[in-house]
Amino acid sequence: MTTDGAPARGVRVVVYGVGAMGAIVTRLLVDRGADIVGAIGRSPEKVGRDLGEVAGLGRTLGVLVEADPRLVLSRGADIAVVCVGSYLDKMQSHFALCLEHGVNVVTIEEETVFPWTTAPDHAAALDELARANGVTLAASGAQDVFWLNHVTTLLGASHRVDRVAGRCVWNVDDYGPEVAGHLFVGQSGDAFAQHVASKGWPEFVARQTLEAMVASLGLTVKSIKSDVEPVLANSPVLCRSLGHEIQPGHLIGTIDWTEIATEEGPQFALEMKGCVYGEGDADCNHWQVCGEPDMELRNEGVSYRFTTCSTLVNRIPDVIRARPGLMSLDKLGPPGYKHGALRI
Ligand SMILES: NC(=O)c1ccc[n+]([C@@H]2O[C@H](COP(=O)([O-])OP(=O)(O)OC[C@H]3O[C@@H](n4cnc5c(N)ncnc54)[C@H](OP(=O)(O)O)[C@@H]3O)[C@@H](O)[C@H]2O)c1
Repeated sequence: MTTDGAPARGVRVVVYGVGAMGAIVTRLLVDRGADIVGAIGRSPEKVGRDLGEVAGLGRTLGVLVEADPRLVLSRGADIAVVCVGSYLDKMQSHFALCLEHGVNVVTIEEETVFPWTTAPDHAAALDELARANGVTLAASGAQDVFWLNHVTTLLGASHRVDRVAGRCVWNVDDYGPEVAGHLFVGQSGDAFAQHVASKGWPEFVARQTLEAMVASLGLTVKSIKSDVEPVLANSPVLCRSLGHEIQPGHLIGTIDWTEIATEEGPQFALEMKGCVYGEGDADCNHWQVCGEPDMELRNEGVSYRFTTCSTLVNRIPDVIRARPGLMSLDKLGPPGYKHGALRI
């Protein structure tokens, strides 16, 4: 039963973007009994083919990947699971289309985790559009459990927090070319330096994650410092995601860093390293809390590639039930395991 007494039913989902993440999400949705009512893609290699084949499931699903989002969304759905890009400049129009069609959105797009300061105009417009159409836009992914809620839950055991500092490492090759592109993988160190000097660095993950953390703790941002540095190849490195070798002196990733001071006192810092892994590299999620008491949180073998997608799928019922609007991650409530078939 739902909260209004109606019998629970299955979820009608559109898969929006069938890249590395969209393919895993498709497999998890099928496992969880979701009714996949449409799929949206871009490249001629994918459009017109069955979603099950494009996602590598080894069987058809009877759902074609289509290029026209309007057509797919106009057939109706409860929610679109969007795995396409990372910044609202690119994603605003995709999200707006879903919302205009009365379709909720859950996405792994990074800026929507906390878009209010880095993309305030897009955030306000999408919030208004979602409210007007009675639906919700929210982001999940690795930020949701490992980089935000895991840490804020730990802070529930603090008597006093002076400083919270995180260090996360993930493999560019676990994701598709979209991610490698954001991190300038394959570009020369000089080209990257010139780009950052002339155009600045569009903060990728660390800033939005920390801002969501500060907001969820009810604290007030006093100042924000962010920086980025390239991770350069010392010898030729094969990047599987791009399908070619990266030459010495060229980027295999970046280290994105943000520090926030709050009016109330506690400080927050996050170093986010995304790079093409070499031998011995492994996913890491490590947080230190200085205060009373000092505490530490360490997850080894997180498998961000998989848990990004499993967290996203577990969020589907939460997002459908959430109040209409753009719900940044600080407002969405704690994530949780949803056993078996997804029902709403
Ligand atoms: N929050 C997190 O934890 C998290 C984790 C991983 C990734 N991400 C983000 O999620 C995004 C996807 O990652 P990924 O590894 O799946 O990248 P990917 O393999 O490059 O996939 C991106 C997909 O978006 C599709 N696409 C691009 N423009 C499109 C358009 N206009 N219409 C329809 N489809 C379009 C591409 O289609 P074609 O293949 O047809 O070109 C591709 O399938 C990235 O921005 C990444 O940064 C977030």
